[in-house]
Amino acid sequence: MADKYSKISEILEGKLTGKKVKLRGWVHRNRSSGGLAFVVVRDGTGVVQCAVKKDAVSEKSFKDASEVYVESSVKVEGTVKEDKRAPGGFEVSATDFSTIYRGEAFPIAKDKSTEFLLDTRHLWLRSQKLTATMKARDYIVHYLREFFEKREFMEFAPPIITKAGCEGGSTLFPIRYFDDEAYLTQSGQLYAEVFIYTYPLVYILAPSFRMEPSRTVKHLAEYWHLEPEMAWYDHEMNMKLQEEMTEYVCQKMVKNHAELLEQCGRKPDELAKVKAPFPRMSYDDAVDLLQKKGLKFKGQKDFGADEEDTLTKELDKPLIVHSYPKKVKSFYMREKPDEPGRVLCNDLLAPGGHGELIGGSERIWELDELLKRMKEEKLDIKDYQWYVDLRKYGSVPHSGFGLGIERLVKWMLNLEHIRDAIPFPRVINRVYP
Ligand code: 4AD
Ligand code: MG
Repeated sequence: MADKYSKISEILEGKLTGKKVKLRGWVHRNRSSGGLAFVVVRDGTGVVQCAVKKDAVSEKSFKDASEVYVESSVKVEGTVKEDKRAPGGFEVSATDFSTIYRGEAFPIAKDKSTEFLLDTRHLWLRSQKLTATMKARDYIVHYLREFFEKREFMEFAPPIITKAGCEGGSTLFPIRYFDDEAYLTQSGQLYAEVFIYTYPLVYILAPSFRMEPSRTVKHLAEYWHLEPEMAWYDHEMNMKLQEEMTEYVCQKMVKNHAELLEQCGRKPDELAKVKAPFPRMSYDDAVDLLQKKGLKFKGQKDFGADEEDTLTKELDKPLIVHSYPKKVKSFYMREKPDEPGRVLCNDLLAPGGHGELIGGSERIWELDELLKRMKEEKLDIKDYQWYVDLRKYGSVPHSGFGLGIERLVKWMLNLEHIRDAIPFPRVINRVYP
């Protein structure tokens, strides 16, 4: 066929050695001296060095190869040779080289500042590091979906614009909604609860929004939120599901993508240890432990970065903290029947101080209890009437949880900052590009 292009990955696997190939892609790196130009080409499957010799190609081919910029788009024809000195161990001896679009000199070179790289994120996403990270993220999301599909969960689409805050007023993003006011959703949970009546096992994977006032390495203003909700599940079953899901995605990545993990900065052996069950601790015991370790944390509020670090620094598996005080957590969590003032909830904290991956709970499923809690929290019932209805008709015990995809990616790939777990990070001081 006239226009059949080989994949660079096939060259690197040794499948095309000695063969004539056609490649197309972008210039990753280049240098030339005298009668020889080396152009390293990237095609989305890998990179390979092409050697363009002046006396082996046409005058135009050699001129093109000598004048390309990093990121110019190119086509190459040539023969594949094994060459230990070339990156990846193979080289293409070019017989023809053409520049499709030369463009301008690429602005990103070594030693650019973080701010510059964030301003040119649309171009920086072509870097090998971010390419590998986004590929790993794609696999991680794939295995999460696979986990829930195998268990016959149904995925459904929640609204993004809503009147119903789910996680407290302080981080809500208000938007103008025609002549009214609404919010960008903080969580699809309340809507997931609608669906368990027709399909007892459901999940959502959609963006959530939080106007987080703090600049941290763990908070985004816009993040992807995976939220399963299960009819007939008590909180124990809920925690077990969280453990099994986390184990599943870690083991799949280790088994199928060890090299990619390594490339991203995570030793596969470390994730191989992530097997259920995980250590568990009540909130009160966690507070005691923190105080014993010398922290001034008094309790009665959610953990911050220092507390999370101290609790998880030495661990090789996530830690489940359960039974938080009612007033620390959201209105919809069911009080522990045997321990008033504490709720049937848990956070799942990543090892190594990477922070909270999951928040989950058994939901209040009785009408009177829900109305009482909403009153205590001073919620405007009229914005939640539909949610209250769910407790009037056919309510059942149920539980669910929310997992922050970028938090999971940050931990699994051992990233320093959550912004590198998403292509276009939205944080307090940045909404460009
Ligand atoms: O603990 P959160 O606030 O819980 C909820 O939203 C529940 N309604 C979820 C549910 O039960 N369906 O958020 C859940 C998770 C956190 O554990 C964290 O991983 C992530 O969402 N998250 C964030 N990720 C990035 N940036 C932020 N600002 C985040 N806030 C929460
Ligand atoms: Mg939380």
